[in-house]
Amino acid sequence: MTRAVFLAFEGIDVSGKSTQARRVAAAHDALFTFEPGDTPLGRDLRHWVLDAATPMEPETEALIMLSDRSHHVRSVIEPTLTAGRSVVSDRFFASTLAYQGYGRGVDLALLRAASDLAIGACVPTLTILLDVSLGVVNERRDHDQKDRFEAEDLSFHERVRQGYLELAQDDGWFVVDGAMSEGEVARVIDERVARLPW
Ligand SMILES: Nc1ncnc2c1ncn2[C@@H]1O[C@H](COP(=O)(O)OP(=O)(O)OP(=O)(O)O)[C@@H](O)[C@H]1O
Ligand SMILES: [Mg+2]
Repeated sequence: MTRAVFLAFEGIDVSGKSTQARRVAAAHDALFTFEPGDTPLGRDLRHWVLDAATPMEPETEALIMLSDRSHHVRSVIEPTLTAGRSVVSDRFFASTLAYQGYGRGVDLALLRAASDLAIGACVPTLTILLDVSLGVVNERRDHDQKDRFEAEDLSFHERVRQGYLELAQDDGWFVVDGAMSEGEVARVIDERVARLPW
């Protein structure tokens, strides 16, 4: 019997996560989902955590992200996997380590512990990191309206990018050069995900 697959896509702004996650989910009849905010409760949490006009401490930001994730895991991801359907998530726990840990400076060990509380045993079968430089981000960004993270300076995004790369090495993720053409990125990802037990 094949097990359901839980695949997570990670990366900084406009690295191509949503494009690839939706495509892979459709190809494997998996549920496409995203964080933060893909539940009724999550939509409210997303509003506050992304609203650049609402001052927020790094720890508060982390805990809202983890609240969204805890609810998302229990109300969407786990029930879907338990029913035998695979799940592809656009961002998951690695985003919190990268953004609130490496980006904001919240203690990584504490974040990992809190993350364990939020997700329980629900860990991805595979995490795919789409890595792009900030130069690529600048070229691709097509809007001026900025959320709390987009409004951060270059050094913040560079810390998040480097954090992702460090985590990818430590935790054995699949890293893809997101600066390649959309078709080339898709080809590299498809080659890897074809080996998963969909
Ligand atoms: N490999 C690629 N080459 C060029 N453009 C791309 C590539 N992948 C995605 N794009 C384009 O870049 C933009 C951002 O892509 P996408 O929304 O998939 O990124 P994202 O990582 O989900 O971004 P966000 O973090 O803002 O949600 C879109 O306009 C998309 O069409
Ligand atoms: Mg996206």
